[in-house]
Amino acid sequence: MKKLENKVAVVTGGNSGIGLAAAVLFAEQGAKVAVTGRDQQTLDSAVKEIGHEAIGIIGDVSTVSQIEATYKKTAETFGKIDVLVINAGVFIPGALADFTEEEFDKTSDINFKGVFFSVQKALPYLNDGASVVITSSALATMGLGGTSVYSATKGAVITLAKAFSIELAGRNIRVNILSPGPIVTPIMTRDGATPEQFEKAKSGMASKTVVGRMGNSEEIAQGFLYLASDDSRFMLGGELLLDGGMRIKS
Ligand SMILES: NC(=O)c1ccc[n+]([C@@H]2O[C@H](COP(=O)([O-])OP(=O)(O)OC[C@H]3O[C@@H](n4cnc5c(N)ncnc54)[C@H](OP(=O)(O)O)[C@@H]3O)[C@@H](O)[C@H]2O)c1
Repeated sequence: MKKLENKVAVVTGGNSGIGLAAAVLFAEQGAKVAVTGRDQQTLDSAVKEIGHEAIGIIGDVSTVSQIEATYKKTAETFGKIDVLVINAGVFIPGALADFTEEEFDKTSDINFKGVFFSVQKALPYLNDGASVVITSSALATMGLGGTSVYSATKGAVITLAKAFSIELAGRNIRVNILSPGPIVTPIMTRDGATPEQFEKAKSGMASKTVVGRMGNSEEIAQGFLYLASDDSRFMLGGELLLDGGMRIKS
């Protein structure tokens, strides 16, 4: 029995990394999937990889006017939305002393403001009983140097999920958090890291986990499926932490 048969799912940031793996698994489980992102080329290849009539929609989550268009197009194509994964995000590392206003605004506009308005603008397009999942991070409640702004935005969305779950309970809409630990995805090389820097970053992140390795997107996709499906029907405003033991390792 497929877990998302006849469901309509939207995955923001579904053209890459964790979001793409979730979109692939959702389609395998019977969902009609719309993925969003800013890059047409990766959207096109994601749509091919996902298959099952998936569609790709260009949209920048930091521009509120672009968010609603995404849902309108999805609803016109497939009908109203049952599963919404708010996953688009950026990681801009930087020390307190050096972090610029521009870096602060970009991180905050995508990872925090983008999440708030991605849920708000979805409301008319969500079916009652829908599941909303927001991607946070294991770092949300940690104090890792050089990640303060990123981690704070990821902490903020945990609070949003709790308040949203209360506000949307009347429509039986659940909002939950998935917090990955270090996962190998293109996010690690978006700042133009060389292969050597990439390998160094990978082993550094792996050493911060108990299991001694980074995770992969498929392991995280299984968590998204749990939160998206009825299997998690008793979970509201909660957090699923899939981090290889990063948070418990001091
Ligand atoms: N990888 C990790 O170790 C890790 C750990 C914890 C949490 N996370 C979180 O997981 C999520 C996915 O990250 P990932 O690791 O899969 O990285 P990724 O491969 O870089 O994916 C990021 C996605 O977000 C989209 N995106 C970024 N800015 C956007 C914007 N303004 N509007 C719309 N889409 C935007 C990107 O699409 P375009 O480039 O086309 O815009 C891309 O699809 C993020 O929220 C990240 O913070 C990742």
